[in-house]
Amino acid sequence: MTSLDSSLESNLKDAEDQAISAIASAADLKALEALKPEILGKKSPIRSLMKRLGELTPEERPAAGQAINGAAIRVEQAYAARHEKLSGEAMAERIQKETIDVTLPGSSPLPRGSVHPLVRTLDEMVRVFVSMGYEVATGPEVESEYNNFDALNIAASHPARDMHDTFYLPGGLILRTHTSPVQVRHMLSHKPPVAIISPGRVYRVDDVDATHSPVFHQLEGLYVDREVSLAHLKGTLQEFLRTMFGAGLSTRFRPSYFPFTEPSAEVDVQCFVCRGTQKSCRVCKGTGWIEVGGAGMVHPKVLENVGYDSNEVSGFAFGLGVERFTMLKYGLSSMRPLYENDVRFLRQFA
Ligand code: DAH
Repeated sequence: MTSLDSSLESNLKDAEDQAISAIASAADLKALEALKPEILGKKSPIRSLMKRLGELTPEERPAAGQAINGAAIRVEQAYAARHEKLSGEAMAERIQKETIDVTLPGSSPLPRGSVHPLVRTLDEMVRVFVSMGYEVATGPEVESEYNNFDALNIAASHPARDMHDTFYLPGGLILRTHTSPVQVRHMLSHKPPVAIISPGRVYRVDDVDATHSPVFHQLEGLYVDREVSLAHLKGTLQEFLRTMFGAGLSTRFRPSYFPFTEPSAEVDVQCFVCRGTQKSCRVCKGTGWIEVGGAGMVHPKVLENVGYDSNEVSGFAFGLGVERFTMLKYGLSSMRPLYENDVRFLRQFA
C-alpha cells in the first residue's frame, strides 16, 4: 500500500473506523438495520472510494482496490457479528417477556358444580339404610308390565293400574311407575334372607305442578327372612326417620292399601317444625304429621310369584318419595326448582 495515494488511504481508514464505531454503538436491531445502506450501500463512504481508483496509476490500482475491498469486508463482518448479537439479545428478551407460567391459576377460574339437592338427599337416605346393613340393588327404568304390575299382585284388571298413569312403550314394555319391580327382580335372583334398598327414577303421566312431575324418584326397601314382623318394619322406619329428622319425633302408621303388601300402611312422621302445635304450620299444614311413604308386609302372593315359600319366610317393604324428603330437608314449597336446572337455585347447595 506504499504507493496508494495517502489521502485515499486515510479516507479509507476514517470511513472504516466510522462505520465500525457506528455499528458498535447501534443500540438495537432497528438502529443497526437503519445504518446498513449508509455504511454498506453503493453510496457508502467506503464504496465511494472505489470511484477514486481512476485517479491512481494502473500499478497503484490493484493494491488500492484490495485495500478498499478488505475494509468493506471487515465492515460487513462487524455488521454481521453485531446483528447476530443484537438478534440474540432481542430473542432472549422476548422469551423472558413472553414466558407463561403454566402452573399459575387461571385468570377466570371455572365455576365448580355441586351435588344436586335431590342426589344429596338420596345419598343421605341410602347411607342410613346401608349403615343398617341394607344393600343397594338397581333395576332398569324400562320395565316389563309383568315385573311392574303382575308379579306385584296388580292384575291387568286391577284398578291400581289406572292409578299409576303409565307410559307405554312398543313391545309390551313400559317406563316403570315405581321402584317396586326391583323387589321382584332381586328376589327372583337371590334366595332369602334379602335386605335391599333400591333408589331410582320412576315415571307417571302427570303434568308438572308444585308436587307432581312425570319423572320423580323413589327409594324402595325390602327385607325378607324368617319371622320378619310388622314390629321390624316399624323399628326400621322409625330409626331411619330419627336419623333424617332428629330424635324425639313420633312416627305413625295409618292403615292403607297396596296390592303387594298386607297389611299396608301409610307412614307419617311428626312435624319436625311445629310438632303439631301450630295450626298455620306451612310444613304440615297444621295436621302435625308429614306423610313420607308407603309400607307393609310383603303379600304372600308376591313371595310365591318369585318362588319363595310364604310359610317359611316373611318380609316387609316400603317405598319413600325422594322429592318429598328433599323438600322437607331444604324447606322447599315446590319441587319444580329441583328440575329446572336454574344455577341460581342450585348454587345455594354448593
Ligand atoms: N310402590 C308404591 C308406590 O309407588 C310405594 C310402596 C308402597 C312401596 C308400599 C312399597 C310398599 O314397597 O310396601 O306408590
